[in-house]
Amino acid sequence: MDSPTYVTETLIAEDIDAYLDQHQHKTMLRFITCGSVDDGKSTLIGRLLYDSKMIFEDQLASLEADSKKVGTQGQEIDFALLVDGLAAEREQGITIDVAYRFFNTEKRKFIVADCPGHEQYTRNMVTGASTADLAVILIDARKGVLVQTRRHSYLCHLIGIKNIVLAVNKMDLVGYDQATFDAIVADYTTFAGSIGINNFTALPLSGFKGDNITSRSGNTPWYNGPTLLEQLETVEVLSALDAGQPFRLPVQWVNRPNLDFRGFAGLIASGSVRPGDEVRVLPSGKTSTVTRIVTLDGDLDVAVAGQSVTLCLSDEIDCSRGNVIAAADQPPEAADQFESTIVWLADDALHVGRSYWLKLATQMVSVTVQQPKYAINVNTMEHIAAKTLDLNAIGVAEITTDKPLVFEPYAQSRTLGGFILIDKLTNATVAAGMLHFALRRAQNVHWQATDVSREAHAALKNQKPLVLWFTGLSGSGKSTIANAVEKRLNLMNRHTFLLDGDNVRHGLNKDLGFTEADRIENIRRVGEVAKLMTDAGLIVLTAFISPFRAEREMVRAMLPEGEFIEIFVDTPLEVAEARDVKGLYKKARAGALKNFTGIDSPYEAPEAPDIRVNTATMTAEEAADFIIRQLMPLK
Ligand code: ADX
Repeated sequence: MDSPTYVTETLIAEDIDAYLDQHQHKTMLRFITCGSVDDGKSTLIGRLLYDSKMIFEDQLASLEADSKKVGTQGQEIDFALLVDGLAAEREQGITIDVAYRFFNTEKRKFIVADCPGHEQYTRNMVTGASTADLAVILIDARKGVLVQTRRHSYLCHLIGIKNIVLAVNKMDLVGYDQATFDAIVADYTTFAGSIGINNFTALPLSGFKGDNITSRSGNTPWYNGPTLLEQLETVEVLSALDAGQPFRLPVQWVNRPNLDFRGFAGLIASGSVRPGDEVRVLPSGKTSTVTRIVTLDGDLDVAVAGQSVTLCLSDEIDCSRGNVIAAADQPPEAADQFESTIVWLADDALHVGRSYWLKLATQMVSVTVQQPKYAINVNTMEHIAAKTLDLNAIGVAEITTDKPLVFEPYAQSRTLGGFILIDKLTNATVAAGMLHFALRRAQNVHWQATDVSREAHAALKNQKPLVLWFTGLSGSGKSTIANAVEKRLNLMNRHTFLLDGDNVRHGLNKDLGFTEADRIENIRRVGEVAKLMTDAGLIVLTAFISPFRAEREMVRAMLPEGEFIEIFVDTPLEVAEARDVKGLYKKARAGALKNFTGIDSPYEAPEAPDIRVNTATMTAEEAADFIIRQLMPLK
């Protein structure tokens, strides 16, 4: 038989156009190899490349030498780059050890992600797996199914890889014994079934000797299945599967070069579309008809999953970035509360209740994560109780977004069911997640429209509602100054209300302490109450340490533009501590009071407060006058 290279060379020599055409239309398979160095992973990849004539002998040797280092080295790749379908957001904090290799055969192009397999590398595996069509799970024939085999299989299944190849390697070291192979397969079948993997292909291999890698081995006459390369060349790729699903196009941008042309550009996530098709824009639900499918190479009669296109519609309906254009009769749902699985990727643990950015396809919304229902032990698949998620932890938690999200369960669509979480302050990607389903409770609670509006409430009081948000260390003078400001406003006939930390903690928030999670919840509730009070037309003053920037920004985002005034009571720690009005600093220094702000709990000072006062240089009365003067332009 002709070797693959020979055929290729002949084709290149005889008809360069035909060769290029064939190369261009080859499908691409992305796969991931899981296992540790000891399993012979790199030798196997090297053998695959070598036997398919992608590399030569000297390169094979250097690859094998390299393999000794895999796990500590490897090329650094941005996580978001992958999750985002190679869409480049290079500034996203996290770098990950995943080595990628590209190769191609006559039939296909391949990208193989080689991830270190130890437990502390869960995030690497999840990264490599997030875009893979297939996973090769390596087993050392002498050792059989190990804890790491289970962990890798679980993670691949979790990430939604449908094609699992169980590569029973080092068969040469067990004398190509069929019984050994069969026992391993039986063992794995039981385990796989228990986690929901119902289908896999098992192959007896030797990466070192080259058995069943690219050609059938004479050493395993009892094996009739495909070789590893055959399996990789014939398995169905994701985009082919996606093409059979209902049509979905997450809109990336609106293309409007002039008044005569308006098109919606994006990458088709699933299904196909033709001019004349009726489509629905989500979340609005408005319908229209496709008039043109525009590409750089001209208009198309049909476009399918994996293609980037611009759609023109017959009506001038509202549609912008983040919307999803879908088949009119099979639209996806939109919701704002979900159950999800979250894989935590950052060193800084999940802050329950904090607001993060959630990015799903082209949608970006604010989200808060509730305390996990449970975390998962990736070695035993057991559910364990968890208050938060640390680096590499995987848990199931409910999440709430501030706007409806157009989605599909991850099991149906990786594009519309997979998301990443981004820290709002550092812009780092902190988690990857998968939506399970929308919580019905969100759909059954509707916003009640009331007749007397917030504007009517404010008009009656003849004022503009405001939140004057005082922040600063304990003992900085927040309460005293807020109190003095309120007195002045009152004399000016303003309708006000002062929410004070110590007081609110006696009632509404008496269930909360001073852990980070409790402080986040404290501020969230106070923010909600302040917002309700502004709806009632009031000027609200709040005096809480509110030590975290993220929560202060969350409250700012809850209110209409310009209604949140951050006032930083900028009193140095030494001054507040010297005053020690309540004797709490002394207790904290003595170790009798834990998590005390400024001592063993952080205070994140505002970087650009709307107003700043320093009580080391002003009296409380002077500070209050100063604040009132600053507020005057607001009326
Ligand atoms: S916040 O951090 O959640 O915003 P808040 O302003 O409500 O705090 O409450 C702070 C007040 O609680 C302080 O002024 C102090 O009187 C009291 N307190 C008790 N324990 C602590 C602590 N560990 N850290 C800070 N303040 C504490």
